[in-house]
Formats: sequence, C-alpha cells, structure tokens
Amino acid sequence: MKIYVCKDYERMSKVAANYLAAQINIKPDSILGLATGSTPVGMYEELVKKCESREISFKNIKTFNLDEYVNLPKENINSYYTFMHSNLFDKVDINQNNINMPNGNTKDFDSYSKEYEEAIASNGGLDLQVLGIGNNAHIGFNEPNEYFSKETGVVDLTKSTIDANSRFFDSIEEVPNQAISMGIGTIFKSEKIILLASGKTKAEAINNTVNGPIDPHVPASILQLHKNVLLVVDEEAASLLDKNSYEIV
Ligand code: PGA
Repeated sequence: MKIYVCKDYERMSKVAANYLAAQINIKPDSILGLATGSTPVGMYEELVKKCESREISFKNIKTFNLDEYVNLPKENINSYYTFMHSNLFDKVDINQNNINMPNGNTKDFDSYSKEYEEAIASNGGLDLQVLGIGNNAHIGFNEPNEYFSKETGVVDLTKSTIDANSRFFDSIEEVPNQAISMGIGTIFKSEKIILLASGKTKAEAINNTVNGPIDPHVPASILQLHKNVLLVVDEEAASLLDKNSYEIV
C-alpha cells in the first residue's frame, strides 16, 4: 500500500485528480469505479477543470458507481444519482450511455445485483476504483461485519453511517437505512484502487486500515492484500500514522 500525505483537502483533491487524469490519458477507454460523499467533491472539481481545458476527455470512459441508497427517488437531492450528475457527469464530455449507477429503486435486488456484477465483468472489469472511507472504515457501503462481503447487494447501514450521513438530510429519520453497494470482492477485483480520506474523524479508520489486522470489522483493512492501492490522505487523516510509512506530496 502506497501512502501519499497532502497538507490539506485542496492538495489531496489535486493529487487524486492528477492520478485519475493519468489513468484516463494512458487508457482513454478506462472503466472507472466512482465514489460519492464529501471527500471526492474537490477531486471531481479538478477533473471538470481538466476536461474543460482539454487535458482529459471522458468521451470513451465508462463508469460504475459504488453504491446508492435504497428507495430514495433518483431525483432526490441526496441520491447518489443526483450527486454524480451535479458534481461530474453533467459537467464533462462523458457519453451518458457509458454511465452505470446501482439502481436503488429496483424491485428485484437479487437479480439486479447480479446484472450489475455481470455488467462490470463483461466490460472487462474495473481499471481503477475510487474509494472514500467511512468513520467506521467502511468502503462503498460495506459496513463492519463478521465477514467481507463478496458481490453487489443490499446492505443495512449502521448507526454510525446513518449518523454521519444525516448531515445532508433535514432529519435523521429521512436517512435511508439500506443501500445497494458493490461488494468488497467487486471492489477488490479492480486493477488499481485509490482511497481518499480527509479530516481527523478519519484518522482512526486510516490507521486501522494500514496498521491493524485484516479484519472484516475494519472493512478497508482488506486493502492491505491488494496489489495496487494508493491512499491519498490529508495531514489530519494521517495523524495516527508512523511518519516513516508515507510520502509527503
Ligand atoms: P465522506 O464519506 O466522503 O462523506 O466522508 C465517505 C464514506 O462514507 O465512504
């Protein structure tokens, strides 16, 4: 696991965007796994600027998003559909047919989840997966559990995640208590993974991910076994790491 520590959120966003831009330019038809949440917003802003200045193009890029709330209409301001369109898809030259997002309003989640897995596989698998991390070290919406989830499916959100995400909703009761998420197995199959984290609320999760035992109660800890993971974190998120374990960029 390679770890880059950036002085602040802005630098983290630029470093992450440069990494994605390199992937897009090296392989213009890359299959990207994308994440939502506050953390990647700055990275998406940088990617939009790079697209406007023609440094990169999404014309032949295909995307698969990590997750979506269950039973939240896609037009809802808090849906990940809305998030991705307003932060990235509506601002770059991506072909709308190349966008894949889990449908949180499907009737048959079992067969839909299998289709989502098959769609990723039939496109040749993910080249690069972008991840945030929960305060509880979840990746996607794969919450701490007795085992590492394998494939896309419906997950129950933990109280910690519902509390954390309630900042976007008018009241905590409005936060959906389920989501559809790529599994940890799905994420792990990506050729490359970049995980972003910012702020001191993420410091413990980052330390447990890097230094703790591989344990499904710390879902991100499985990334220790992946061959190509880059962590891009700001100083606060890195505050519990040994200074010899990372590069300052
Ligand atoms: P955040 O969420 O970027 O809003 O902190 C990350 C996550 O829950 O995975």
